[in-house]
Amino acid sequence: MLDQPAAPRRVLVTGGAGYIGSHVLHALTDAGIPAVTIDNLSTGRRAAVPESVPLVEGDVGSADLLDRVIRAHDVDAVMHFAGSIVVPESVEKPLAYYRNNTVSSLTLLDACARFGIDKVVFSSTAAVYGATDRVPIDEDTPTAPINPYGASKLMTERMLRDAEPAHGLRSVILRYFNVAGADPAGRTGQATPTATHLIKVACQALLGRRPALSIFGTDYPTPDGTCIRDYIHVSDLAEAHVLALLHLRGGGESLTLNCGYGRGASVLEVVRTLEAVSGETVPATFADRRPGDPPQLVAGADRIRERLGWVPKHDRLDEIVRNALAWERSLPG
Ligand code: UFG
Repeated sequence: MLDQPAAPRRVLVTGGAGYIGSHVLHALTDAGIPAVTIDNLSTGRRAAVPESVPLVEGDVGSADLLDRVIRAHDVDAVMHFAGSIVVPESVEKPLAYYRNNTVSSLTLLDACARFGIDKVVFSSTAAVYGATDRVPIDEDTPTAPINPYGASKLMTERMLRDAEPAHGLRSVILRYFNVAGADPAGRTGQATPTATHLIKVACQALLGRRPALSIFGTDYPTPDGTCIRDYIHVSDLAEAHVLALLHLRGGGESLTLNCGYGRGASVLEVVRTLEAVSGETVPATFADRRPGDPPQLVAGADRIRERLGWVPKHDRLDEIVRNALAWERSLPG
């Protein structure tokens, strides 16, 4: 009798009910890659998880829970999204950030080592570069985070690098620039009403769900005086994760890659683009600079294209804001 082909192994996705994690679960499902997710639903939503993906409610910082999930599913790889992400909050509660981001990552990597899981895709951030003047910022830019959030992520990067020679654990570290937009099919999006990100807040203001958008700072050394960021569509970012997983499953070496398009847009350009796609005015006021905002953050973004063959499909600001607005409209007001 012929042997049955082995069932494909599962990827354990932490934080799969959250904004980015849920887009990645949909991208994995679309690609036919089985997954299981752990999420404590502190900010995530059950409805964001595709029906075919088992959701285990609980904390990634629990070694017992990790053991149970890894034993119950044939896990060969991990994608790690769970964590805290609000920069000013990290300044107020640094220890909570080191616990949720660094200590939980340690627990997760420890479980990987114990179970022989040797592939990790890790959600890192451009915040590891700190207040650099480099434009664009390539991956060889020295890391010098200026807040506990960036430091907590950088510590996990370091643990991953040290774990490779000791435990054979290969990783793709993805350093996100400004992630925005929503699934073009409307299956998931940024659902935290108190989120502070520019495009989310601008959409809420346009829909009357916030009184107005405050434009933080108009005297930056940029062409229109407002800050410039490299906004990347969350669905392109999700695709990069799928490619990173396939790279590791194919035996590829560890990589550290920026996730951005390599070009920036100012706050005013974002507002004008949203007004153009909606035909409506964004209620906005000019405000003082927000402490800690660098004038310009643009990714050096060649390496991810070269190493993963990543080709973005949604790299237009109007598509990003159109999808973000459609998602925002779909939420209860
Ligand atoms: N902005 C406003 N008004 C708002 C919100 C934002 O004018 O209500 C401006 C900010 O001042 C900034 C730009 O819009 O110039 C983008 O701000 P976001 O808060 O959307 O994003 P950040 O660039 O501050 O932060 C992002 C990620 C962080 C990550 C950081 C890396 O969200 O997780 O990039 O530097 F740490």
